[in-house]
Amino acid sequence: MVKRGLKHSILTGLTLLALVGTSIGGPSNTVDARGKEKIAPYKNPKLSVEKRVDDLLPRMTLDEKIGQMVQPERNSVTANDIKVYGIGSVLSGGGSLPTTGNKPADWANMVDDFQRGARSTRLGIPIIYGIDAVHGHNNVYGATIFPHNIGLGAANDLKLMKRIGQATAEEVRATGISYTFAPVLAAPQNIRWGRTYEGYSEDPKDTGKLGSALVEGLQGEKNDPDFLKGKHVAASIKHFVGDGLTEGGDDQGNVTEYTEKEIQKHIKPYKEAIKAGARTVMVTYSSINGLKTHGDYHMITEVLKGELGFTGFVISDYNGPQQIAPNDFRESIKRSVNAGIDLFMIPNDWRQFITTTKELVAKGEVSESRIDDAVTRILRVKFENGLFEKPYADQDLVAKGVGGAEHRAIAREAVRKSQVLLKNKNHILPLQKKNSKIFVAGKKADNMGYQAGGWTISWQGGSPQWMGKPEKDLIPGTTILEGIKEKAGKNTKVDFSEDGTGAKGHDVAVVVIGEPPYAEMFGDRDDLGLLQEDIDLLNKVKASGVPMVVLLQSGRPMILTEQLKDMDALVASWLPGSEGGGVADVLFGDYQFTGKLSFTWPRNMEQINTHDKTNPLFKKGFGLRTK
Ligand code: GLC
Repeated sequence: MVKRGLKHSILTGLTLLALVGTSIGGPSNTVDARGKEKIAPYKNPKLSVEKRVDDLLPRMTLDEKIGQMVQPERNSVTANDIKVYGIGSVLSGGGSLPTTGNKPADWANMVDDFQRGARSTRLGIPIIYGIDAVHGHNNVYGATIFPHNIGLGAANDLKLMKRIGQATAEEVRATGISYTFAPVLAAPQNIRWGRTYEGYSEDPKDTGKLGSALVEGLQGEKNDPDFLKGKHVAASIKHFVGDGLTEGGDDQGNVTEYTEKEIQKHIKPYKEAIKAGARTVMVTYSSINGLKTHGDYHMITEVLKGELGFTGFVISDYNGPQQIAPNDFRESIKRSVNAGIDLFMIPNDWRQFITTTKELVAKGEVSESRIDDAVTRILRVKFENGLFEKPYADQDLVAKGVGGAEHRAIAREAVRKSQVLLKNKNHILPLQKKNSKIFVAGKKADNMGYQAGGWTISWQGGSPQWMGKPEKDLIPGTTILEGIKEKAGKNTKVDFSEDGTGAKGHDVAVVVIGEPPYAEMFGDRDDLGLLQEDIDLLNKVKASGVPMVVLLQSGRPMILTEQLKDMDALVASWLPGSEGGGVADVLFGDYQFTGKLSFTWPRNMEQINTHDKTNPLFKKGFGLRTK
């Protein structure tokens, strides 16, 4: 750091000299002795990223530096604010859509408008716009919606993960955005946690491999000339660290049951993903032994930036810093800046962040070198992200749009591979295609709101409204019922009943049960038993005497030990997303079941609450084939 400091002071001196000379074409260009305009080195893409950072940083005022460190939400900032305050980044929270509509062009125009504000500042430093594209570009209507991560963990296909990342990145770029807050690297240890489905596996070794593959898909490979550029985006591995280790699975809770050595196992996926090129890391809301990780200098600076050698930027979670000292904004900002966070996701109180941080520096409670470290990292990623050369949306990608057949085919493959066959009495599966009468039961069989789960169009999913009633047509795609109808032969009769009435007389019933959509703390549960509506549905179909193939559409294993005996077949379908046809592909045997559980399936809540994995209903790694 000292070396860099010395370099900076020399550069500052030289820069001051240069600035004394006539400057034309904006404050950062100069004219040489022959009157020829020389562009400032930081604007020269032929120079290395480090040289460009080293040239730009000393040019910046403290105000400009602090402006780079804050990320307001799109609905609390204007292009003019970005220009006046030199804001460095903007985000869309879950469901925070452009006011003009939800097509790729609406997004691209909105982001470009913000960008014009940034590009009109003294130094023209572009913003980086971030969004949660966590199972496809899930805020955008018509985007390809992939299975949530718990299903991808069951598929456990690294090449597929990379293709999912590439497809997602391309659809994010189609909206003018170059940064996604994904993937989650948590290895959830208590499935009561509402974010279990955002985890690939209970085993951090699986999570490291799958998350790193997704990072490579999103960003491109490190030696790829289009690394973070073109159709690629910057990833944000999250939430560092231990978000899946909290007591009782409490979202944003406290990690108390694990030793430092055990927590190390959950740091390993970050090491692996950083090696794969991850360029941003988001900090967890949770605490370790009572210390909020947003204020944990050891974890963020000594471990992440030190031991793991992370050189990208560290971003806070949404109002995460303020949880450090809930009644003292100044103390929260002081501790989170000094802990090593670089970019602050402070959706509304971003002006207060700027004034507070400036005052902390003036009082010597936050050092300028800490500010310089943060801004160096932010600028580094922006240069890598190609934002200085191509700050605006790629209109060819915007025109190509989202949700094309090629990406949907990848998603359908992922759905197929994610299905886990847990029971198949008398080989009732695969279903027969001809001369059979199939009865499909349950509202969840024909409803995209249920099928896609949380983080879809809105934060909580299910409907555009906050916690609305899950909507059948929330997104375009194929429901499980539509997939069954498509796949069944022309001589096959497929009947459907939301409440299970009318099963009698059919050869087989496909009964879809599961969870309503939820996200984060809204999915925390004390009891993971089947919903009463599903128990009633199962009992009604059971009473008809028709054999039952049960599909559980949920964000995690659920307690169904008692009901299992009545099921002739059971499939864990997880949260398939837009391409529900992939479920029919394996039900009818066009593709073999290959999914294996990436989580232990408990018999009862006691086993969950005591972390007892000795005698589960189904072991991690279990999954049947039909032949
Ligand atoms: C949320 C989540 C985080 C997400 C962020 C922005 O609270 O914890 O995963 O990226 O806010 O939506």
